Amino acid sequence: MDALNQLFSLSGHVGLVTGASSGLGVECAHALALAGADVALAARRGSRLEQLAAELTASYGIKAVGVQADITSDDELDHLLHTVQARLGLIDILVNNAGISPTGRAEALPRSTWDAALATNLTAPMMLAQRVARGLIEAGKPGRIINMSSIYGLQASSIYRLSAYTATKAGLANLTRQLAIEWAPYGILVNAIAPGWIPTEATEAGIAKSQNRERMEKATPLGRLGQPQEIRGAIIYLASAASSYVTGTTLSIDGGYVAW
Ligand SMILES: NC(=O)c1ccc[n+]([C@@H]2O[C@H](COP(=O)([O-])OP(=O)(O)OC[C@H]3O[C@@H](n4cnc5c(N)ncnc54)[C@H](OP(=O)(O)O)[C@@H]3O)[C@@H](O)[C@H]2O)c1
Repeated sequence: MDALNQLFSLSGHVGLVTGASSGLGVECAHALALAGADVALAARRGSRLEQLAAELTASYGIKAVGVQADITSDDELDHLLHTVQARLGLIDILVNNAGISPTGRAEALPRSTWDAALATNLTAPMMLAQRVARGLIEAGKPGRIINMSSIYGLQASSIYRLSAYTATKAGLANLTRQLAIEWAPYGILVNAIAPGWIPTEATEAGIAKSQNRERMEKATPLGRLGQPQEIRGAIIYLASAASSYVTGTTLSIDGGYVAW
């Protein structure tokens, strides 16, 4: 058991999960807490964060704090990081999970929709990653950054019209590689996760439309959609000693979808 703990325990670490008010972010927070990390939760719907923080503390006996923040605002990011540092200490695990997935025909996509996707899915993860990395570099400590990309960061979508989404998620996957190279000398490992179709607030309505679920299941070798909690193992792996020689990669959690 000790050897298993050495591989996967996150005790003594401090994680920050963005987009922890719903969906996969909730599962990322559970994963870190389950492995023993103290956890900070960020999103705009603050009351949901308070609720989850109380649940994590009660279930796992770790410290958890919720901080309401819009990650597209630099001021709110600064406030977020100061608050987390004051309450939990130096963040050494960042999960850049928050994201939006606006749809619309490419030829008619409003500039504002494009800009919003970029701000949330690509610029905010970079702004957070650089703040967390600066703290670690100054403190001389190693750390982990996990970016939530998508199968649509690796391929385009034949089901949805997702030009802004696919562009930002592909950007995030390549940003992951670049940051991994730049921060390897500091022991900061940077990886991404690429989930397939998983029902959440963001995806449920689309999955329910016409033949979508059937098409998605057919396109997935395992023949089914994912469940949100199936993201947990990858988060613990990429945050822990188990992945100490892994950086710059994107791990697909997609039932084999990108293997075709
Ligand atoms: N579900 C899937 O099938 C799937 C597949 C591939 C990738 N992903 C990715 O997984 C991540 C989570 O998606 P999900 O499916 O769990 O969707 P979700 O339930 O809609 O969660 C999105 C989260 O992002 C937060 N968020 C959005 N804009 C924000 C902002 N400006 N500031 C702070 N927080 C913000 C939301 O919180 P507030 O609204 O409270 O701010 C929410 O907690 C996304 O990056 C998504 O692209 C999901």
